[in-house]
Amino acid sequence: MGVAMYALNFLAVLLVTLLGLALLIAIILGVLDRTQTHDAIRRNYPVLGRFRGLFSTLGEFFRQYFFAMDREELPFNRAQREWVKRSAEGHGSTVAFGSTRNTSIVGTPIFVNAPFPPVDNQFAKSEPKVIGPGARIPFTATSFFNISGMSYGAISKPAVRALSRGAKRAGIWMNTGEGGLSPYHIEGGCDIVFQIGTAKYGVRDQNGQLDEEKLREIASHETVRMFEIKLSQGAKPGKGGILPGEKITPEIAKIRGIPVGEDSISPNRHEEVDDWDDLLNMIARVREVTGKPVGIKMCIGSEDGVVEFFEAISKRGLEDAPDFITLDGGEGGTGAAPMPLIDLVGMSIREALPKVANIRNAHGLRERIPLIASGKLVNPGDVAWALATGADFVTSARGFMFALGCIQALKCNRNTCPTGITTHNPRFQAGLVVEDKELRVAAYAKEIVKEVETIAHSVGVAEPRLMRRKHVRVVQPNGRSILMSDLWPQAVST
Ligand SMILES: Cc1cc2nc3c(=O)[nH]c(=O)nc-3n(C[C@H](O)[C@H](O)[C@H](O)COP(=O)(O)O)c2cc1C
Repeated sequence: MGVAMYALNFLAVLLVTLLGLALLIAIILGVLDRTQTHDAIRRNYPVLGRFRGLFSTLGEFFRQYFFAMDREELPFNRAQREWVKRSAEGHGSTVAFGSTRNTSIVGTPIFVNAPFPPVDNQFAKSEPKVIGPGARIPFTATSFFNISGMSYGAISKPAVRALSRGAKRAGIWMNTGEGGLSPYHIEGGCDIVFQIGTAKYGVRDQNGQLDEEKLREIASHETVRMFEIKLSQGAKPGKGGILPGEKITPEIAKIRGIPVGEDSISPNRHEEVDDWDDLLNMIARVREVTGKPVGIKMCIGSEDGVVEFFEAISKRGLEDAPDFITLDGGEGGTGAAPMPLIDLVGMSIREALPKVANIRNAHGLRERIPLIASGKLVNPGDVAWALATGADFVTSARGFMFALGCIQALKCNRNTCPTGITTHNPRFQAGLVVEDKELRVAAYAKEIVKEVETIAHSVGVAEPRLMRRKHVRVVQPNGRSILMSDLWPQAVST
């Protein structure tokens, strides 16, 4: 009995002390809040005002788990992300009961199913496609779905390693992004597309100009198959790459040829390229030095420039033509970019792709200049839409980030990515186990190909590259859908 009384007394004293302490802290915080001058809410609502910041931060994390509907979030909703996750984990990509997609939204693509689709023995695999037939060493690309550019710097060492090994397993290519070539790109043995960004990281001389010796050295790696000159990317057209200083480790600085720890901002464009003719000169120069196919990457704002580009190509002849064009939509992703550019600059791939494909086809260059499309094309329906519209290949960056375990925390610019993908902090990188994630990367790529094949069979063709615009309908503002081939008629060779 005596012991129980003591325990009760002790608890009562503890409670009163804790309450007293809490009150004291609240008074101190209250005084601090009332006397500070930079936060109006805390000044007007001392102590209570502090919860607003806390709840805003927590809300960012919890909304996606408890409140947001399956098809609601941006840039990618839960249904899109979960599809990638399930495919990457090899859990099968089927869903049950019925669609959660609102198919009355304007622009939704609806595939036209055939009354008598092909049966198993009529299926075919997409043939490998030769890119750059005029280069000394053309590249035969096996897969229509590949990994888009993400630099070592924007993403981490284990992320690059897992992508490189996964790409090899799946037989797809990996684009280096603009941060140069690291040993981690090479270690998996996959096909590599080396990107020459506007700062020419990895192939620049002391003045930031193209260093042909370094270019030759990069090209001497057998697995570096193609070179991509970056004009712009969808998330920030008109602005070069941005790598915050905190993400520039000594190793990344060495690979790029820049100082450690200082923000690295690439120029807005290649300084020696003032017009389309200059660009064709640069393409010819890089192809001559490397012997490998050379293309460009861009996001367009209107078709006018593209028309001029193709006129310049036709005038100069096929030898000087780019070996491919990567077309990135304004909805594309990035490690870091100013918000107005991410939000509002650059045409969506949904509009840009049919326009550019039409211009290319009208010049009779469909076979000579493959189009590589990107911009939120992360699920099979998106990839199938792009192939039917006129793309020869599709690449994705964020699809593969989801395969690596990305949870869309939107922290790529802060070196605090909780999944270790876009951070150089070893604490967070510990979560990204390369041997596990390389399997997921490969499984995701293979599942995309398989499901795009399923769509192709549904519309009545033997393989994905046989899909055409007549196989897709697009929902219109009046609620009805019309054929893509009527919405975006082709000039030639649809
Ligand atoms: C973390 C990150 C880094 C990127 N780095 C580059 C880059 O170095 N060069 C480039 O051209 N694009 C870069 N991009 C853009 C992608 O290559 C791609 O064009 C764009 O994200 C659209 O594909 P997605 O919608 O599948 O992500 C990056 C994107 C992300 C998310």
